[in-house]
Parts: sequence; C-alpha cells; structure tokens
Amino acid sequence: MKVIISIGGSVLMSNGIDLEYIEKFSGIIRELGEYNTIGLVVGGGKISREYIKSARSLGASEFFCDLIGIEMTRLNARILIAAIGKTASMEPPKNIMDGAKAMDFGKVVVMGGTHPGHTTDGVAAMLSEYTRADLLVIATSVA
Ligand code: UTP
Repeated sequence: MKVIISIGGSVLMSNGIDLEYIEKFSGIIRELGEYNTIGLVVGGGKISREYIKSARSLGASEFFCDLIGIEMTRLNARILIAAIGKTASMEPPKNIMDGAKAMDFGKVVVMGGTHPGHTTDGVAAMLSEYTRADLLVIATSVA
C-alpha cells in the first residue's frame, strides 16, 4: 500500500525532543516501511510557533514567518530520518515532485514543508493526491 502520514509537531515534539517517543514512532514506521511505500510529512510543533511568533512581533511578513516554519519542519524531518535509520531516504525533499520521485526508490521518505501559504497537512494531502496514495493519515493534537 502507498501511505502518506502527516505527523504534527504537536504530536511528535509536544515538549521538545522526546527521544523515547521518537524511537517508538520510528520503529513503527520502519515496520510499516517493510511492506508499504511510506511518505512521512513532519510538522513544526511548538518551537516553530515560538519562532514564528517572535519573528512576527519583530515585524516580519507572513511569507517570511512561513519560511521560518518550513525550516523548522525540515529540521524535525531530519531528526526522524536519524531515528528511522537506513530504511529512510537521507535528504528531506523540498517539494512534492521530489518527494514523489524519492518514494519510487523504496525507502521511507521523510519531508517537511514545501512553500509558504499552507501547512504540512496540506503538503501531505498534495503528496497523496499526486502519488495516488491508498491512504492519508493525519496525526495531530491541534483542533
Ligand atoms: P505546521 O503547521 O504544518 O506544523 O507547520 P505543526 O504546527 O507542527 O502542525 P500541527 O499543528 O502540530 O499538526 C508549521 C508552520 O510552517 C509553515 C506554516 O507557517 C506553518 O504554520 N509552513 C509549513 C509553510 O508555510 N508551508 C509548508 O509547506 C509547511
């Protein structure tokens, strides 16, 4: 099956980096990746919200704030890549097309945001639509 999972930073890193939780989650992804094609899109979480809030109060534009959020999602993606290990593709793709291409190589693809103006749930939805995924899972703890 082709599965896209959007994992919110609020789920993965609700209070900083919880190594135990990350290792548990990565273990599940490794197992799923054995028999399925997995695309994982990682959110920014509390820390990205703090950075965005600070930049906004300093006068940054919304586009600029989004760029900060995207950087953070990519950092979080790298942490997950480290935890998943060699089952994961090394480099987080920067756009949907590269994400889709990387999924064709059999590794678990882990990515963050792509472009200002939407969230990682949006990225996961677009990746699902483009790759004709069988299943889109959105894991968040934000209403
Ligand atoms: P998310 O809002 O997707 O992460 O990205 P999150 O807050 O961790 O998700 P939940 O709420 O816990 O489920 C963080 C921020 O990064 C920017 C947006 O500003 C977003 O609020 N972003 C992310 C983009 O501009 N474009 C993207 O493709 C992804």
